Amino acid sequence: MRFLYPALAAFTLMIAGALADADAPADIDDTAALSNVTDTDTGAASLVSNAQPSCFPAIGFHPPKGRAPSIPAYRWWCSRSSEYAFLGFSYSVDDCPSKARMTKDFTSMRSMYKARYVRIYSVCEGNNRFYDDVVAAAYGAGIGVYAMVWFGFNGPNDHSWEGRLSGLVNTITHNRLASYVIRSVAIGSEALFDGVITGPKLAASIKNTQAKLRWLGIEVTTSDMAYKLAANTNVLGAADHLQLNVLPFFAQSATYGNSTNAKAQVLRELGQMRDATRSRKKIVMTQTGWPSNEFVWKANAAHAEASLHSEQKYYDMLDGQCWTFKTFPKGGVGWFAQIWEDNTLPGWGIVKNGVPKFVFKPKISC
Ligand SMILES: *[C@@H]1O[C@H](CO)[C@@H](O)[C@H](O)[C@H]1NC(C)=O
Ligand SMILES: *[C@@H]1O[C@H](CO)[C@@H](O)[C@H](O)[C@H]1NC(C)=O
Repeated sequence: MRFLYPALAAFTLMIAGALADADAPADIDDTAALSNVTDTDTGAASLVSNAQPSCFPAIGFHPPKGRAPSIPAYRWWCSRSSEYAFLGFSYSVDDCPSKARMTKDFTSMRSMYKARYVRIYSVCEGNNRFYDDVVAAAYGAGIGVYAMVWFGFNGPNDHSWEGRLSGLVNTITHNRLASYVIRSVAIGSEALFDGVITGPKLAASIKNTQAKLRWLGIEVTTSDMAYKLAANTNVLGAADHLQLNVLPFFAQSATYGNSTNAKAQVLRELGQMRDATRSRKKIVMTQTGWPSNEFVWKANAAHAEASLHSEQKYYDMLDGQCWTFKTFPKGGVGWFAQIWEDNTLPGWGIVKNGVPKFVFKPKISC
């Protein structure tokens, strides 16, 4: 098993990021509900409390079975501004899960926890068609996808990510279901933090990919630490929305999952990103969590407690911030739990062998 996530240095350094101009793209903000979806299985929508139950991927909405939707993708999606609070899970694809496996996992995420999205984490190496399986599994499960282009840790001269990116763009433009399932593409997860690409090159790649995918309504961005994004204003300016990785467990001041320090760090980094983009961009925490053990990475603080209780308390604390998250730009902050299956990142999972490690009932609205 490979653990691709790097050991984290403390990242308490605050960098004042004065952004020249964050030119927000036109919001793909469509409030029209799919009043016309007549498939009988969408009837469940009315049973579930949700702002827009008749749009994808609201809880209670089921894509038409066995065929592509007959409406344009831009009218299919729930409004971005309705998407805040718990969105779903990061899902590691290191071991190239099969379509059947993903369908099962994605369905569990939705039925057990009301996940609206799955965020793909890492890469299924050597399979450029892998995203066809992701799309099919996600469509079958009725869950949306935050896609990811993985870089790896071999330094800036490793250009294999470019092949992964063009493979993904190729899938998106050729798979007729892709634009009904994939909401966004992140070019890199902590690529700046890992020093595997420069800010200007990453910003250029984001813009280049936007030009290829904007007609499909798919947003393009990168995910990284707040201080790395703040220090790379060209990347901040290029990204359609911000994908932030927030991990207070690694802070020098870390103690417990629900400590005042952990909460303060989450709010500080969100505030930093809001201010750096002058409230013009939506913020999603694509990686946030707290581990139940230190098998993979040790904390940087002597008193940081990795335990099941501390992990649970961290998520309780996030839930307690639902109202605050809602006050952030473009409908508020959404977040992904890091990570779905504990076996793929020991200590960090919500389920282990598919069984919940603790009581996890995140709010999807407040
Ligand atoms: C709704 O369905 C009717 C009849 O099938 C069709 O004419 C109309 O274009 C549909 N409207 C939308 C918004 O899809
Ligand atoms: C953290 O959770 C514990 C146990 O439920 C509780 O006693 C404590 O007050 C909480 N701390 C904060 C800062 O909320």
